[in-house]
Amino acid sequence: MDTEIPANGTTSTPETPRLLRATCAPELAPWLRQEVEDLGYEIEHKDHTGVEIRGLMRDAMRLTLRLRTAYHVLQRFADLKAKDSDAMYEGAIRLPWERVIPPDGYVTVTSTVKNDSINNSMFANMRLKDAIVDRINGVHGHRPDAGSAGDRSVVHMYWNEDHCRISLDISGRKLSDRGYRRIPRRAPMRETIAAALLAETGYDGSAPIVVPMCGSGTIAIEAALIATGRAPGLLRSNFGVQHLLTFDHETWSDERAEARKLRTPGQPAPIVVSDIDPEAVEATRKNAVTAGVDHLLDFHVCDFAETPMPQDPGIVILHGEYGQRLGNQDDLPETYARMGDFLKQKCGGWEGHIFTSRELSGNIGLKPARRVPFEHGGIDCRLLKYELYSGTRRTSITG
Ligand SMILES: C[S@@+](CC[C@H](N)C(=O)[O-])C[C@H]1O[C@@H](n2cnc3c(N)ncnc32)[C@H](O)[C@@H]1O
Repeated sequence: MDTEIPANGTTSTPETPRLLRATCAPELAPWLRQEVEDLGYEIEHKDHTGVEIRGLMRDAMRLTLRLRTAYHVLQRFADLKAKDSDAMYEGAIRLPWERVIPPDGYVTVTSTVKNDSINNSMFANMRLKDAIVDRINGVHGHRPDAGSAGDRSVVHMYWNEDHCRISLDISGRKLSDRGYRRIPRRAPMRETIAAALLAETGYDGSAPIVVPMCGSGTIAIEAALIATGRAPGLLRSNFGVQHLLTFDHETWSDERAEARKLRTPGQPAPIVVSDIDPEAVEATRKNAVTAGVDHLLDFHVCDFAETPMPQDPGIVILHGEYGQRLGNQDDLPETYARMGDFLKQKCGGWEGHIFTSRELSGNIGLKPARRVPFEHGGIDCRLLKYELYSGTRRTSITG
């Protein structure tokens, strides 16, 4: 077995540049790439589930606090050649885990494994966890606890054939778990997808946004965070990096302070939310309070077609129900036809968007200017964009 450890050692000081990988859901990669580039980083590698840059621990913290479409930020710890689990264990126990995982801490191992000798990634996780705790036990005489909680030190392994990449998960739990959605309604949209949809629409808070069918409020809350320049990581107090021995408090405090400076002063253009279900509107209100943006939202309980539209045009986004998850399948085609009518009749001059399953998108009766594929909850979805002209220039109607 051949073990390769980066020549400059495996621990990270604030001065050691490392490969940093930001991961995302498949299909969100273009928006994640854009975000990373907008932060001024040069991308070394990109694929459909993430991007890689080289950076310091400070950069890993910055990405963790600021990215809206990423799941995790990983800092490369070691690369191993391992054909099976014994080889992986032998390689991993030689790594200096005692320099990164506290002996009295708690570690979670996660993985993606594509190796013929492993048919259950839980087994691979257990073998890597054994290597980590056995190594620390050998050094300190006692070992950290381990389990699946994911809320303290987290180690991630990507094992493809005989190449095993081992990383420290700087985020810990998924970054899509912002911490504001304490009251999830049925079929909520993942926060990272909502952020990508908003990036796709070009929303920046300068024009109004209307979100009928708001459910638990994810789209509107993400919009309010974007409009006010709030870094999503500031909403959360617990990240994987804080449970590593290499954690540098001062750098973390600096990065949080820098992220706070991104806040834009003043009031964004109106953000209107509505839902026919009063409990959904109440959930949106409570979630918005948790996110600290409730004062920016204008709440209404009504059918989507009755949502009061601000005078100046902007963006309207409807995320309706789709049969496999919600809603009465028989009523859905008619509901989608009504959404098309609503856009045509009430949203002249606005930019309309409907997010739904590919299957139901044919019922809307308007010709989209753009269709962007998204996978959401295992369903093949589309974001459909409609340019809705006011006056005589009407959106074309499909026949
Ligand atoms: C898929 S959920 C929206 C999820 C939301 N994007 C979130 O992140 O939580 C669809 C919502 O549409 C609402 N709804 C269904 N029919 C409606 C109608 N005719 N008018 C307004 N809202 C409606 C439901 O109450 C539900 O909250």
